[in-house]
Amino acid sequence: MCGIVGYIGNLDSKEILLKGLEKLEYRGYDSAGIAVMNDNGVQVFKEKGRIADLRNIVDEDVMANTGIGHTRWATHGVPSTGNAHPHQSNSGRFTLVHNGVIENYDILKREYLQGVALKSDTDTEIIVQLIELFVNEGSNTEEAFRKTLTLLKGSYAIALLDAENDETIFVAKNKSPLLVGLGETFNVVASDAMAMLQVTDQYVELMDKEIVIVTKDAVKIQTLNGEEISRDPYTAELDASDIEKGTYPHYMLKEIDEQPLVMRKIIQKYQNENGELTIDQEIVEAMNDADRIYIIAAGTSYHAGLVGKQFIEKIAKIPVEVHISSEFGYNIPLLSEKPLFIFISQSGETADSRAVLVNVKKMGHKALTITNVPGSTLSREADYTLLLHAGPEIAVASTKAYTAQIAVLSILAEVTAKSRGLELDFNLVQELGIVANAMEVLCDAKEEFEDIARKFLSTTRNAFFIGRGIDYYVGLEGALKLKEISYIQAEGFAGGELKHGTIALIENGTPIIALATQESVNLSIRGNVKEVVARGANPCIISMKGLETEEDSFIIPEVNELLTPLISVIPLQLISYFAALHRECDVDKPRNLAKSVTVE
Ligand code: F6R
Repeated sequence: MCGIVGYIGNLDSKEILLKGLEKLEYRGYDSAGIAVMNDNGVQVFKEKGRIADLRNIVDEDVMANTGIGHTRWATHGVPSTGNAHPHQSNSGRFTLVHNGVIENYDILKREYLQGVALKSDTDTEIIVQLIELFVNEGSNTEEAFRKTLTLLKGSYAIALLDAENDETIFVAKNKSPLLVGLGETFNVVASDAMAMLQVTDQYVELMDKEIVIVTKDAVKIQTLNGEEISRDPYTAELDASDIEKGTYPHYMLKEIDEQPLVMRKIIQKYQNENGELTIDQEIVEAMNDADRIYIIAAGTSYHAGLVGKQFIEKIAKIPVEVHISSEFGYNIPLLSEKPLFIFISQSGETADSRAVLVNVKKMGHKALTITNVPGSTLSREADYTLLLHAGPEIAVASTKAYTAQIAVLSILAEVTAKSRGLELDFNLVQELGIVANAMEVLCDAKEEFEDIARKFLSTTRNAFFIGRGIDYYVGLEGALKLKEISYIQAEGFAGGELKHGTIALIENGTPIIALATQESVNLSIRGNVKEVVARGANPCIISMKGLETEEDSFIIPEVNELLTPLISVIPLQLISYFAALHRECDVDKPRNLAKSVTVE
């Protein structure tokens, strides 16, 4: 989703900004722009399309030590050069980039900007025109900025330039992510640390409703009421190589291949010196205090939550409900007496999930966030955090974060169960080790998955994924992976549910990808496959060793039945990857999608 960068220092800013924007590309965007400022004023370059298109129009001869940049994922107004950021006030004095949604922009337009000619269809332009209005009425820039911010309803991360003060970037944040990065002779602004890792690994977190005056030598943080705040920087523990593709053609393929490594890292991170799995005692107590757990998440993280429910109920014996965050917000079920909320979010920034978190905190409930990003909004605002340790996930389609979420949920269930004195008939450390090895076998079988993708998905318009029990949940994830990157219409169904309607869609050659990894439902899912084959479907059965038959297309290695989602998803990730590749889709940056969805 939209991303922001800013630089103020001694160096020429445009290359730093463009490189920063390239690092934010993974978030998803449809236009981009930069504004650079020197003592001749501000110059804006913006373009629909990719950063590479923006690079082509940036004047190489302009030298400027201060600048801001933006990648835009359209919310208000179509993707176009006119709607791209930065936006300027009518006199050209103020230039601004914004990430978020201003909910009351129409009201503000009518109340304050009747006579002002607007140049774009965006909510953002309102902010910059309001600042100019208040300056024209006698405020200085900082006062006008502050006054404007107090009028805004919604979410924002903002960086503002004033052409009459080339030594300052004005910054503010509410609900949308924003960090300030510190250097010796410069300071930077960025939506995430990855964007500016090229120049610094020292960052200061910003909280909602804070405003920051950034110069090359200082960073002054204040509340909207003007109270000064002092906050220590932290070191972003990111390795530059983590965010490079290396020799891989796509981040998605690299991230699929990283899954065995991530499994081993998770085991190591959650083991104590005796080799036992452990998590913070506070979290275990919160689990044990709860009479019901509510898992809240979106998309792939929601699918991981469905698997997590099985673990927590079967292993730790605590009832669990799993909810889509955007629905839960306005459709809160009758809550139990002592609920514990678990938010699952790779990015830790998903606005839909955050809205629920804010609400349940107001209701006085405890919350645990399971995320890949330390210091992310959901992590900061929850009572407890469990980290995924998966390393940055850049491809829009989530892969290694999904398996990391499931592994961490299994550890949470196991540690909780042990604390309740429940006997377990397996050793999770050993089982996750077996999973890591099985993942390697699957990652080495790419050619077979490429063949499957070619045979079943090269020309089809649609595809169905079926399974029963835990396989059904993995099928939902497989369908999401396929549709988001290959644009094939794909749906996941519970095997037994097909005959209640969906089977009407089966035609000659319709691909059905069936998962058969659970002994208790092996015969019934195979029965469902026969039903669709009788109606012309083209079946691709992926089974687990020990349950296989001759008709199966691929047999995954045997792992503990409960943990099969960790490995049965890998064929689905790879089949989706190759299907998208065969259709010449942009695998890492599928159309219309954003990595970090920071609007509700
Ligand atoms: C799909 C995908 C999305 C995310 C969803 C939630 O591949 O990545 O469905 O899972 O947008 O994002 P997080 O996990 O960051 O809250």
